[in-house]
Amino acid sequence: MVSASVSGTASRAAAMVLLALTIVAGVAMPAAARKPSAGLGLPPDAVSAPDPVRVALGRRLFMDRRLSPNDTMSCAMCHVPEQGFAVNEIATAVGLEGRSLKRNAPTLLNVGLQRTLFHDGRSPSLEDQVWGPLLAREEMGNGTKAAAVRRVARIPGYRQRFRKAFPDRGLTAGTLAAALAAYERSLVAADSPFDRFRYGGDPDTLSPAALRGLAVFEGKAGCASCHRVDGDHASLTDHAFHDTGIGSLSRARRKQGYAVQLAPGEFTSLRHEEVVAAFGNDDADDGRQEHTRRLEDRDRFKTPSLRNVALTAPYMHDGSIAALEEVIDHYDRGGSGHAGQDPRIRPLGLTNAEKSDLVAFLHALTSPHVTTLAAEARADASTPVFRALPSPRPKKR
Ligand code: HEC
Ligand code: HEC
Repeated sequence: MVSASVSGTASRAAAMVLLALTIVAGVAMPAAARKPSAGLGLPPDAVSAPDPVRVALGRRLFMDRRLSPNDTMSCAMCHVPEQGFAVNEIATAVGLEGRSLKRNAPTLLNVGLQRTLFHDGRSPSLEDQVWGPLLAREEMGNGTKAAAVRRVARIPGYRQRFRKAFPDRGLTAGTLAAALAAYERSLVAADSPFDRFRYGGDPDTLSPAALRGLAVFEGKAGCASCHRVDGDHASLTDHAFHDTGIGSLSRARRKQGYAVQLAPGEFTSLRHEEVVAAFGNDDADDGRQEHTRRLEDRDRFKTPSLRNVALTAPYMHDGSIAALEEVIDHYDRGGSGHAGQDPRIRPLGLTNAEKSDLVAFLHALTSPHVTTLAAEARADASTPVFRALPSPRPKKR
């Protein structure tokens, strides 16, 4: 691990070299040459340049509610552009006809850096992943790939757009997935104050608090051993699966009983056994074990990248933690402390100042490019948010 002060010195040195070059040349550097790309700080393979025609088509599909029965659910209903391409209001996602999902919708910003998808890593590629939500009864409810393709084919304009984006293939299941994946790969949002400091040679982008937080992140708190920061890039994930105590805490909460809403504002409580008897299961989440069927993978979840994390509350696979301060408290307490938890999750003894410095550092991972991506998504949305209601007929007296 590189300590913050060493790299601070390195980047200051780099900045001075740049300054010297500018002076030698005798002219100010043109603004364009200085402007870092949106991908500054990302691993190189995460910053591909997908075909712009396919990206535009994928963006239109992503925003289009007509991709589900009743024209209700688009991808963007659960990956809301203005909410960091996640959902801020609810812990676990709600899909078609109000059916609820057991997991929190992750952000799609920088999703191109992910090597496996979903909290349990069960999908190997973006092209494969899209069929999860497109087909699932609880999400967009198309049932089969053929039904999804038929639905898109019926919407005016898409056949032509697909022929333009994929001249030899037109609209097929493969090109539908490819267009959505191309758009997702274009959601590049790095170049944060942290990236400009660490990889852009700009010593002044991090506040003193964020700078101290970075040192705690890489040092005393050991966060970077899973949320990786490397020499020339930071994915802020190790692409692996760990038990950080969240699964065991939510299992313990479930055992204490459930609050069930009977009518708005009216709740009754059910015991765990009653829920299992009535529904056949308790909606438990065993994490990676659900995919690998290996006992040792129980409660292991994918390490999320922490890029733009200040925009994507609530946190963890079940959305059980509302704010970054509480995430830090969870780690500082040493997680749930149960047997089987990753040994790196242990009481950290952080001071209040160190905790707030860590939060300041996490805020410095927010990319200035997110607002542009959100605005582009809305500008392209082809479905009106509200359908025109039939105008009421004047009542005859
Ligand atoms: C009903 C809400 C909902 C809808 C609609 C939805 N998603 Fe998701 N999405 C989720 C949830 C919840 C997860 C996490 C599920 C899990 O881990 O098992 C997820 C996970 C993902 C992931 C994995 C990200 C990662 O880092 O692992 C991708 C990619 C994704 N969705 C893309 C899409 C696309 C593309 C669409 C539209 C075709 C879509 N989603 C529609 C709720 C939704
Ligand atoms: C042993 C590996 C490991 C270590 C060490 C670790 N994390 Fe995590 N982190 C994870 C995993 C795995 C998750 C996802 C857990 C889940 O979804 O239930 C996570 C989730 C998070 C989240 C929530 C992100 C989101 O989008 O929901 C934040 C914030 C976070 N970690 C910050 C930190 C900080 C700060 C530290 C140091 C104090 C730290 N992590 C140390 C593995 C680790």
